[in-house]
Amino acid sequence: MSAQLELNPLLRPMHTADLDAVIRIERKIYLHPWTRGNFRDSLNAGYSCWIYQFAQSIIGYAVMMVAADEAHLLNLSIASKWQRQGWGKKLLQQVLDLARQHRARVMLLEVRPSNVAALGLYQGFGFKRIALRQGYYPAGPVREDAILLEMRL
Ligand SMILES: CC(C)(COP(=O)(O)OP(=O)(O)OC[C@H]1O[C@@H](n2cnc3c(N)ncnc32)[C@H](O)[C@@H]1OP(=O)(O)O)[C@@H](O)C(=O)NCCC(=O)NCCS
Repeated sequence: MSAQLELNPLLRPMHTADLDAVIRIERKIYLHPWTRGNFRDSLNAGYSCWIYQFAQSIIGYAVMMVAADEAHLLNLSIASKWQRQGWGKKLLQQVLDLARQHRARVMLLEVRPSNVAALGLYQGFGFKRIALRQGYYPAGPVREDAILLEMRL
């Protein structure tokens, strides 16, 4: 049996007490990470904020905003040592299920054109490109565009 089949991670709500660990992961995996304030604001705004955890280890996390019938995935991350083991797919599947439970009919998200891993993940689920947001992301002296992806739920 593979190590992955033996693991059964838990998806649970994110709390302020998680933010030290979340920020540590965030800073390792993004060149332009979210700040503690970004996560705190998301919690305070009542966004759907989740920790994907196995035992004491945080495998990943996700932040989603749901308004009316539209879900907007704002952050989906897998800690570097857990990447490329199928956890991103499993976490995204759970987030899509949550969006459906909130009666969302569409999920939207932005992704950097340079983020090959994320594009592969989302396209594998059937997300379609619907727009390009110019200069959306910080990227050093110039800004990077964002591809807006959509999936009908
Ligand atoms: C994007 C991310 C969530 C993927 O999570 P993961 O657990 O590594 O991905 P999985 O192992 O579940 O792989 C799912 C698919 O993603 C794609 N993928 C993941 N890592 C990849 C890589 N390094 N290169 C190319 N494609 C990759 C593949 O299409 C893969 O499907 P496959 O295994 O059938 O080829 C993870 O790399 C991550 O957290 N990156 C940093 C944060 C980030 O960019 N988040 C998304 C912001 S929009």
